[in-house]
Amino acid sequence: MADVSADPDRALRALLAPGATTVVALDDDDTVVGFAHALTDGATAYLAQLLVAPEHRGRGLGRQMLAEVFQRCRVGRMDVITHTAEGFYETLPHRRFAGFRLYPGRRPARG
Ligand SMILES: CC(C)(COP(=O)(O)OP(=O)(O)OC[C@H]1O[C@@H](n2cnc3c(N)ncnc32)[C@H](O)[C@@H]1OP(=O)(O)O)[C@@H](O)C(=O)NCCC(=O)NCCS
Repeated sequence: MADVSADPDRALRALLAPGATTVVALDDDDTVVGFAHALTDGATAYLAQLLVAPEHRGRGLGRQMLAEVFQRCRVGRMDVITHTAEGFYETLPHRRFAGFRLYPGRRPARG
């Protein structure tokens, strides 16, 4: 997933882009404590960002926001690429697929 956290303008553009669905979690003081951000083509949703503030983790917020953004995308499946949260996604109903991240213009990696 792209890291937009260091650039607020870029983050805002991503979160408000056409075809994007964003769910934001606030605490009692209206401070943002997490968000889920997905794109959809009408058949499949693609999770772009899921983040819970460290002090709010482990209380079901990540799972709740994921369910909410999934439901708002109105599709039957969501693709997720992760290199940080395999254990979290393993707790959800899923199928595993091989994945590739392409970098046009770069030399192909040699196996
Ligand atoms: C991954 C992340 C969103 C999970 O949010 P969270 O609010 O802590 O998760 P939840 O409390 O909803 O956890 C739901 C279940 O997943 C489990 N879980 C959560 N994180 C886990 C992890 N890293 N490894 C294994 N299991 C995990 C919980 O124990 C819980 O299981 P249970 O229902 O059987 O008790 C959060 O840790 C985070 O923001 N991480 C940093 C950013 C990141 O990696 N985002 C994902 C990018 S693809």
